[in-house]
Amino acid sequence: MSRNATLTIDGQSYELPVVEGTEHELAIDISELRATSGLITLDEGYGNTGSCESTITFINGEAGILHYRGYSIEDLCAHSSFTEVSYLLIYGELPKRAELDDFESDLTRHTMLQEDMRHFFDAYPRDAHPMAILAAMTASLSTFYQNAINAGHPEHVNLTIRRLIAKIATIAAYSYKKSVGQPTIYPDNSLDFCCNFLKMMFSVPCEPYEIKPTVSHALDQLLILHADHEQNCSASTVRMVGSSQANLYACISAGISALWGPLHGGANQKVIEMLQRIYDDGGDASKYIAKAKDKKDSFRLMGFGHRVYKNFDPRANIIKKSSDALLKELGIDDPLLEIAAKLEETALNDEYFIERKLFPNVDFYSGIMYRAIGIPTDMFTVIFAMGRLPGWIAQWKEMTEGAGRIYRPRQIYIGATPRSYEPIQKR
Ligand code: CMC
Repeated sequence: MSRNATLTIDGQSYELPVVEGTEHELAIDISELRATSGLITLDEGYGNTGSCESTITFINGEAGILHYRGYSIEDLCAHSSFTEVSYLLIYGELPKRAELDDFESDLTRHTMLQEDMRHFFDAYPRDAHPMAILAAMTASLSTFYQNAINAGHPEHVNLTIRRLIAKIATIAAYSYKKSVGQPTIYPDNSLDFCCNFLKMMFSVPCEPYEIKPTVSHALDQLLILHADHEQNCSASTVRMVGSSQANLYACISAGISALWGPLHGGANQKVIEMLQRIYDDGGDASKYIAKAKDKKDSFRLMGFGHRVYKNFDPRANIIKKSSDALLKELGIDDPLLEIAAKLEETALNDEYFIERKLFPNVDFYSGIMYRAIGIPTDMFTVIFAMGRLPGWIAQWKEMTEGAGRIYRPRQIYIGATPRSYEPIQKR
């Protein structure tokens, strides 16, 4: 049964179709609103705006539900690998054995960087943020693979997708090697995605390196949990840039830049910096809770709150359990953990946080796990980007396979009305 919403303004009524999603979410379709009424909608921060219809990821923020292509994040974390989940997100179905083998073999084959690109790392300053390097190197891939960035050509698209996933781990590891002044380690194609990344990150040519299965499993799970999150800031950026028909490397590079900000993926780095600051300041969690509540203080409790989750973040629940198990298995006693636990307990029982439905989000715990794995703080968001890459690709692919309209929001102008021009001598 089709439903309509009626908008009445100045005595004139407009019928607007109501769209229902497969999980019964409702939206008012305003795509004809301006043409019929001359009005637009105003929604700063897009909190009430659906920018597209999508078949990729479902979130119910009130119930704490996250599904990729209909599969629960809990099931995928328990039974799948990151590469399998990547395939699911990008191609829409869980792969059959032969499909997964083919996908993984492509991801393995394309791990090496063009040798000239490897030399780019020599030119970055040693203290460059690895997210800056990741964004720049990702955009640079389009200069080396110019013949394979044609969005209208499925084989080119497929090759570019696989190249990107394969090479992002190599770029990420090289940016770390640059920051610590160690030689870059070539990929080892006998290893799976996570083991290969860990080896490129942590091994040195002069010593044998042992990959701990617990660590590679923990990393794999973290990547799955980050793999997509529907129309967040970076995914919307990828779609926005892609809607102009820019090539996929450029779109992903833009997504990486959007993710870098502290209110988005950069929050995982900020969480550890915040915990360290509290620890250095004597470890008084309640002092920082008070700061977070003080509207005159710009301090926010990093890793708390979410635009969509108003109950709990299901990713945070999974990570919390895994991080407890990982720390126990690695025998790590991290003083920052105690501070994190104190903050969490105090905030969860504090009226300010309860009223505003501010719960720990994925970034509150992921930093603790990255630390346990030995990943330095400024690489946290890079790992988030590696995990989010298949989601960005899936969002881009869905967008380019759709109607293909350029994203172009409107605005309400509130600036000066027409005025006469003053020559510079008279101003
Ligand atoms: N600490 C203290 N107060 C907060 C916090 C926080 N972390 N988050 C929100 N609030 C308050 C905010 O001041 C506002 O209060 P009031 O109603 O009195 O003005 C209210 O809660 C609603 O906040 P908002 O800023 O309108 O919410 P938003 O949906 O625009 O922002 C957010 C969501 C995630 C940017 C925000 O909660 C935040 O800044 N959190 C800290 C940064 C963080 O952890 N980001 C990672 C998000 S999860 C990873 C990802 O998907 O990117």
